[in-house]
Amino acid sequence: MPAPSPSRSLDLDGTPVLIFDDSAAACLAAAEQIAELVRSAVARRGKAVLGLATGGTPVPVYKGLVEEHQGGRLSFAEVSTYNLDEYYPMSPLDPQSYRTYMDRHLFSLVDLAPNRAHVPDGTVPESDLEAYGASYDRWIEAEGGLDLQLLGLGRNGHIGFNEPADLDLDTALKLPTRPVSLHPTTIADAAGDFGGEAHVPRRALTMGTASILSARRILVLAFGAKKAEAVSRSLTGPMTAQVPGSLLRSAGSRVTWMLDPAAAAQLPG
Ligand code: PGA
Repeated sequence: MPAPSPSRSLDLDGTPVLIFDDSAAACLAAAEQIAELVRSAVARRGKAVLGLATGGTPVPVYKGLVEEHQGGRLSFAEVSTYNLDEYYPMSPLDPQSYRTYMDRHLFSLVDLAPNRAHVPDGTVPESDLEAYGASYDRWIEAEGGLDLQLLGLGRNGHIGFNEPADLDLDTALKLPTRPVSLHPTTIADAAGDFGGEAHVPRRALTMGTASILSARRILVLAFGAKKAEAVSRSLTGPMTAQVPGSLLRSAGSRVTWMLDPAAAAQLPG
């Protein structure tokens, strides 16, 4: 699959930003980068460890990866995956669970070993949640860390379910995987999937900023006018826990932003 090239690229304080003709081109380019990274990590160290995202944004990325697999160009036999988040409480069998999303869009369609496909477990008892979050981070660390983290961006700037928060920067950059309360914007944006805001879970488990920001490569995808403000605040505003996407600047050039023109509309240049 020939990877589409960006129509424009920016360097914002050392962070590469690639702007594609449309979201389809950006997703195809992201899928190609991920496939290439898997092939080279497996060749170099015998395995690849991917951090994966859910939501509307990455669906075509998974489609691209499945096509690579079906074409015989990509195997997941030596891949482990760690998803960013899951609603809480949530059964993995629930049609709205992120586990179901991942099964539908990737896991059931490729040769990934079921015991290497990790999604935070929305059935862990309340009293075990903190300890469970700490073990999720330890599993990632024991794998040698994430080779790549795929991220979307919330309208409120969230990454995973690390929501805007009143925290000092030091703390915000080192958050563990943990239970969180969802932000009103996140609940509003999920209302369509759940048949109304009243049915959206109020809580979730999210991978923390510590594991996300330690990834050796981070791809952030954001598309459409509704993301333009969060994109510009993340890339050009102050680095603050109030805009979790801005925390990605601490990872410098390990991060690449991949945007469509509408999401990039409020960026300089
Ligand atoms: P979306 O969500 O891909 O459904 O827009 C992105 C996010 O909230 O991270």
